[in-house]
Amino acid sequence: MHVLVTGGAGFIGSHTVVALLERGHQVTIVDDFENSSPRVIDRIEQVTGIRPGFVEIDLLDEPGFRAAFGSIAPDAVTHFAGLKAVGESVADPLRYYAHNLGTTFSLLNAMKAHDTKALVFSSSATVYGHEQQPPYVEDAAALTATSPYGMSKVMLERILTDVADAEPGWHIALLRYFNPVGAHESGLIGEAPLGAPDNLAPYIVQVALGRRPHVRVFGDDYPTKDGTGERDYIHVVDLAAGHVAALEKLADVTGARAWNLGTGRGTSVTQLLAAFEAATGRAIPAVVAPRRSGDVPRSWADTTRAEAELGWSPTRGVAEMARDAWRWQQQNPNGYAADDCVS
Ligand code: UD1
Repeated sequence: MHVLVTGGAGFIGSHTVVALLERGHQVTIVDDFENSSPRVIDRIEQVTGIRPGFVEIDLLDEPGFRAAFGSIAPDAVTHFAGLKAVGESVADPLRYYAHNLGTTFSLLNAMKAHDTKALVFSSSATVYGHEQQPPYVEDAAALTATSPYGMSKVMLERILTDVADAEPGWHIALLRYFNPVGAHESGLIGEAPLGAPDNLAPYIVQVALGRRPHVRVFGDDYPTKDGTGERDYIHVVDLAAGHVAALEKLADVTGARAWNLGTGRGTSVTQLLAAFEAATGRAIPAVVAPRRSGDVPRSWADTTRAEAELGWSPTRGVAEMARDAWRWQQQNPNGYAADDCVS
């Protein structure tokens, strides 16, 4: 099928484009490169031997996007585009709500206008909020989140569900990602955060490179296996495969349905540090710092539904995630900032 991928030059989007091309699907990326680089397109071609279609446009340019959508005429859409920095969203909620909701409205209007009603949406485990206990089950309780970023995902899940309930013909997958880590095994595509990373794995990598002095461990007195926060880290290549599985099952989905994409296992900050020390062969200094506001102690997925209904389960563990993230970083010390890949 022909899949339009919004945000296809981003971290998860680019890995999903590779997975789609490798399964024989046709892909057109729509991206404005606000938080990514056009070099990603060349790298995708290097990995797969296929150059995906590509349109540079801001989804908020609604008439322009609608016209582009009509020319692309996709069978389905995977929607990655959006703002995702939790701290920034707390500081500037209006920008986050306006952007994440506005881009999705523009997309939905274009899809409606062209009668394309198959959509895979990037949601997040953040929608389980603070009250639920892991393993998180998709329909166990009402969704909530502690940041405007997270609430934009809660709201969009609701909006997409209402749209699908109101009008027959929609097939919508709401994919709740746990914590994506790693990079493509080729070392050609990976995560390229601008500035100081917020997330643990990219921060660890920068410390391993000697670019930052130490990792701050946000709290060592949580009620967890070793006192540090536990998360469900998932290899980005497994996550990408989850999107292909969801897309290929979409025709069987009536309305909107949520799936967790995680491994079902919790890994502590200390354990992730150890995995990176093993993968890099370097000591990674860490100092204990106060808890970070908004963090939950423990988070991991119940994977029953994704396994049963999508026929998908991740195969890579934290050792592979650390190995592949490190390979990517070593081959591309400046991310995509210069074409300096040393593979
Ligand atoms: C965060 C976001 C979540 C978002 C996800 C995207 C928050 C509260 N949540 O998830 O909404 O969907 O990123 O991947 O920001 N840690 C350290 N030192 C660091 C960084 C993190 O000890 O420098 C710890 C955290 O306390 C946590 C774990 O590492 O226990 C993972 O943190 P992080 O990678 O930021 O992911 P989440 O907080 O789970």
